[in-house]
Formats: sequence, C-alpha cells, structure tokens
Amino acid sequence: MKTDTHSKVEVTHLSFYYGDKQALFDISLDIREKEITAFIGPSGCGKSTFLRCLNRMNDEIPGTRLTGLVRIDGQDIYDIAMDVVDLRTRVGLVFQKPNPFPQSVYNNVAMGPRALGMASGSDLDDLVETYLRRVDLWDEIDGDTSQPAMGFGLGQQQRLCIARTLAVAPEIILMDEPCSALDPIATLRVEDLMRELRKEYTIVIVTHNMQQAGRVSDRTAFFWLGEVVEYAPTTRLFTNPDNERTEAYISGRVG
Ligand SMILES: Nc1ncnc2c1ncn2[C@@H]1O[C@H](COP(=O)(O)OP(=O)(O)O)[C@@H](O)[C@H]1O
Ligand SMILES: [Mg+2]
Repeated sequence: MKTDTHSKVEVTHLSFYYGDKQALFDISLDIREKEITAFIGPSGCGKSTFLRCLNRMNDEIPGTRLTGLVRIDGQDIYDIAMDVVDLRTRVGLVFQKPNPFPQSVYNNVAMGPRALGMASGSDLDDLVETYLRRVDLWDEIDGDTSQPAMGFGLGQQQRLCIARTLAVAPEIILMDEPCSALDPIATLRVEDLMRELRKEYTIVIVTHNMQQAGRVSDRTAFFWLGEVVEYAPTTRLFTNPDNERTEAYISGRVG
C-alpha cells in the first residue's frame, strides 16, 4: 500500500548480536515522519535493542555487532562519516526510569544546549522556559527553575527529561517504556504530551501496555523473539491482525 507520508527512518535487513547471541533477526521496516510508532511484544523480544539501533546507543555496549542498514532521511547512520554526537541530538532517547541530573531544573534543560553552543545568557533562559512550558512544567513550578529536579514526583521528573530531550532540537524522539514507572494520572499527562509533540516530531515508543499503544500510536510493530512479525496501522493490528501470533498476544493468550 502506497501513501504519500514521508519515511523518516528506513530499516533494511537489520540483524543485531550481543557477542554470539543474536537479538534481532533481519528486520525491515519504515518509520513515518510525524507519526507515533509503537513497539509492543513480550519482554526480551528485542524492542529496546531495536530502539537503541536507531541512535547508535548500542555502540556503547562492547562486543555488539550489527548488519543491515538504518537510514534517517536517506542517510546511512552507520556510515563511517556519521557524527554520532550529532546523531544523538537528532534522535533523542527518553528512558524507562526518569533520570534527571541531580541538579536544578534549569541545569537539566540548559545543559545540552549549553554544551552544544546553541544558546547562552538570556537566550538560554528563554529556551529553558520554552521547553518547560512545552511539557507543562513551567506553571507547576511557578517559573522557579532553581529548584532541585530530584524533589519532583516521577511524572514531573519524566516530563522534565522530555523537556531536556527537546531542548537540543531533535527530529526523532525514542521513548523506551516512558510511563512504566508512572501512576495512571502521570501516564495520561505524558500521553497527552506525546500527542502534542507528534505535530512536530517523529516519535517511537516501546510500551508494555497495549492500551497505551492503542491510545497514542498511528502504527504498531509486534516484536516476537527478535523478529517483527507484524507491522500495521494500530487500529488494524489490534482489530484484525494478519498473524496468529499477534492475535494470540493481543488477546492475552501468550506473552
Ligand atoms: N547489554 C546486553 N548484553 C547482552 N544481552 C542483552 C543486552 N541487552 C539485551 N540483551 C538480550 O537481548 C535480547 C533482547 O533484549 P531487549 O532488547 O532488552 O528486549 P525487550 O526490550 O523487548 O525486553 C534479550 O534476550 C536480552 O537478554
Ligand atoms: Mg526493553
């Protein structure tokens, strides 16, 4: 089926190995620009590994190896000429457990832009405010950015981490089970935020929560033992899956 949406990420024949152990098997899929793509599937099936292939975070793990191609806007991100620091600002990663720096709210957001020389002085102050507003934290803290990030609840910490990711102007935001440590109210706030961000960013979310995939995503990929067995528009995948393993998983019979 052809549509005119632009493929932001094109993955072809991707396999991935931790030493001798193969974790991903010949995965090919495209991720469309300004959509939310969800990865679902049981634990240990390669969702996080795949996500980390998209910004080369796995490079940090010794003994790993990858074959196949990952292209972003047509550019091979594993090409020798690729600047990995630049790649990781273009492709931000939000972790499962909120991990703010044990510093002020201000520093959490300002650190990246400052290090990259993106802004300083009052421009940097404006940038910090912009992204704190973006994640709905500015009013909650009455604009007092001097407070310590660690004093926040987990939901606020996660939104701060999202602000920190946005502050370096990424194009793609990867989220690895970003709500699994959060209560239901905090989860809904992050989901609302994702829907807002979708207008400007390409978002990929790993989630254990199938209802969450249903609520927020445009497309869903079902991972099973290191393979993507089905990848389809979310509504279709949940109502009328092609594959019997997908069916078994979404109906709660396995996984
Ligand atoms: N750092 C690592 N070193 C070795 N094996 C790993 C590492 N991270 C993940 N794995 C293995 O790769 C497979 C996929 O893991 P992972 O990508 O974390 O799955 P998921 O996110 O779907 O739970 C699992 O068998 C896991 O044990
Ligand atoms: Mg995982």
